[in-house]
Amino acid sequence: STVYLNGDYMNAEHAKISPMDRGFLFGDGIYEVIPAYNGNMLGFAAHIERMKNGLNELEIVLDYTADTWREICQQLCEKNHGENLGIYLHVSRGADTKRAHAYPSGITPTVFAYAFEIPAQPVSDIDNATTYTVSVEQDKRWQRCHIKSTALLGNVIHYQHGAAAGNKETILYNRLDELTEASSSNVFIVKDGVISTPPLDNQILPGITRWLILTILHSHSDFKVQERIITKQELFAADEVWITSATKEVGPVVKLNGQLVADGKPGKIWQQVQSLFTEHKF
Ligand code: PDD
Repeated sequence: STVYLNGDYMNAEHAKISPMDRGFLFGDGIYEVIPAYNGNMLGFAAHIERMKNGLNELEIVLDYTADTWREICQQLCEKNHGENLGIYLHVSRGADTKRAHAYPSGITPTVFAYAFEIPAQPVSDIDNATTYTVSVEQDKRWQRCHIKSTALLGNVIHYQHGAAAGNKETILYNRLDELTEASSSNVFIVKDGVISTPPLDNQILPGITRWLILTILHSHSDFKVQERIITKQELFAADEVWITSATKEVGPVVKLNGQLVADGKPGKIWQQVQSLFTEHKF
């Protein structure tokens, strides 16, 4: 495939970075994943804004404008033709001459981007939906989960625990038994017709899909929506559980640690919300 590295497009096998790159040595970088269907990107501006926030927080100075990013994404879509692509963007602090913890001055960030195939756009059909069985365990990641850092080992370990149990995701709760998010998704629950999701703070990534869903829900006055603390007990007692991300959109969860969610099928509210999402998304 054709990838982008520091201003140039090249075949993936010709893309080389230094082992002194702080992305490699420390996971010192920020990334994004943007879905593109037939070249139409979903939530592009919001993804770029979140990346800028992450770079600011890490004091990584990069002079790419949103237009620069758009051009890179469009080029990658064209050069890697595919109906359903995810665009991965990655900025690390750059390569130093030695390994030292302090942020070095005067180094140039490394910018890498590539396109990969993602599943077709999700459908809002109860019988044909992609459903998710998930593990549930205590969140053992760091306290800066709002930063979309390339240092993902905490998430990777949680995801792997789920995968080892035959599941497709792992939902996490903190030491107070409060729901945070999943290893690569945000979480929503529905109980007695009320849709709830944990509030934004340092314990979760401000998901773009989460934000798009909340925006859609607020524009339809018939939904009851709350951003509030949700307990682990409420998760297990929910009528519906959804995991949301750029590629899953509104992903219906049908099993938690082997236990069925309600009747083990995607719920009625899930169907309404995924169908509104499909309608509103571009
Ligand atoms: N994951 N929470 C975490 C920890 C995530 O890694 C992601 C996204 C989300 C959902 O964010 P968004 O709706 O903006 O995709 C929540 C990406 C897709 C990944 O790491 O591949």
